Amino acid sequence: MNHETLIKEALKARQMAYTPYSNFNVGAAVLTEDGKVYTGCNIENASFGATNCAERTAIFKAVSEGSRTITAIAIVGDLNSYTYPCGICRQVFLEFAKDENIEIILAKNEKDYVVEKLKDIIPGAFTKKDLNKE
Ligand code: THU
Repeated sequence: MNHETLIKEALKARQMAYTPYSNFNVGAAVLTEDGKVYTGCNIENASFGATNCAERTAIFKAVSEGSRTITAIAIVGDLNSYTYPCGICRQVFLEFAKDENIEIILAKNEKDYVVEKLKDIIPGAFTKKDLNKE
């Protein structure tokens, strides 16, 4: 799947963001090894800590539907700058990424985006390898 297609899915999901507190809308789309796409938006809460980021919404949807291996992720937050994922989401990416080279696509729109490798945005991470679970 090309970058543009995955970004379009993230943009669509962004429209569903529930953000009465921040008004900062984010959409994400994850591609899984079995070729499926799962999307998510951020979902805020009056108890701010209960907020869920768009990226984790998408990943948790994938995992709960039986797709545990992610091969790419597109994220659209602010439309005028590239929105990078928060630390908690980066940690969750590591748990379900096919490997540390998967592409993290940060987009303003389908045509304007940057691509990072997972390993470059969370160096020195603690992962399941440290627990000998791999
Ligand atoms: N947020 C995301 O959904 N993903 C990110 O990558 C950064 C932050 C959300 C959480 C909250 O709803 C809002 O953006 C402001 O932090």
